[in-house]
Amino acid sequence: MSAKLIDGKKVAEITMNLLKEDVVNWVNAGNRRPFLKVVQVGNDPASTTYIGSKTRACRQVGIDTDTTHLPDTVSAKELKAAIRSFNEDDLIDGILVQLPLPSHLSSHDVIESIDHRKDVDGFHPMNVGRLTVDQPTFRSCTPAGIFELFQYYSIQVKSKHAVVVGASNIVGSPMAIMLSRENTTGKATTTICHKFTKDLTSHTIAADILVVAAGQPNLIKAEMVKEGAVVIDVGINRVADETSDKGYKLVGDCDFEGIRKKASWITPVPGGVGPMTVAMLMKNTLLAAKKSIYPED
Ligand code: GUN
Repeated sequence: MSAKLIDGKKVAEITMNLLKEDVVNWVNAGNRRPFLKVVQVGNDPASTTYIGSKTRACRQVGIDTDTTHLPDTVSAKELKAAIRSFNEDDLIDGILVQLPLPSHLSSHDVIESIDHRKDVDGFHPMNVGRLTVDQPTFRSCTPAGIFELFQYYSIQVKSKHAVVVGASNIVGSPMAIMLSRENTTGKATTTICHKFTKDLTSHTIAADILVVAAGQPNLIKAEMVKEGAVVIDVGINRVADETSDKGYKLVGDCDFEGIRKKASWITPVPGGVGPMTVAMLMKNTLLAAKKSIYPED
């Protein structure tokens, strides 16, 4: 079998064009443009790159944005005071604090200080809780993007055995919740594997749908994948590459070349899940502006 490619770059472009129209309609109806406030603490180069692609995406769909830079020495009190001012600012619809934060700051505390009605990342416990009880919410952007890909390629999830490798709050955990819930496009029998899982292969080999978000290059090899499986590789790892000008290349968590001979569908890295994450952030920001998740009284 040779796997068909899930082209996240193409689907993200289509999604972004539709969102651009939605923003135009929203503004033509007399509303101001949605506004996304991004907060960057310190100067982590990967964070700077991610924020760059988020702000470019905003420009593309007509969402206004700016980034507040704070030094990596900022105290929790100062950071939360800044977030409080953004919570209270009626001209700000969505707030995104880029993670990871310097180690002296608790990301849990910081995320909880964001008004859940502006939490376009879908990381606030209120939004994660609503996801868990199958209620409308800001869905974490990467899992939401993966579901858009399933929908676009008519990949059936219902009643399949889905296995998620990695249990992070950003991807693995919300992905597993969405796969298993009933009101969303889930309804799959779902297994979550993590670093304490014994005999990982015994789980991955049973997966009809395998979502890998472990942040470990080459973790999943062809012999760990069932013939005909759908393989979603969320990993974005920088590995040294002397042939590249940058000195590194991006690879996922899966052995792409080996697995593509066995799987029915596979996402490439880059150009798979990544572009969809940004498109879903735009979607959540528009939902926040429209007060779609939390209508005002
Ligand atoms: N760091 C890595 N991924 C993300 C994301 O989706 N949102 C935020 N805020 N930080 C991240």
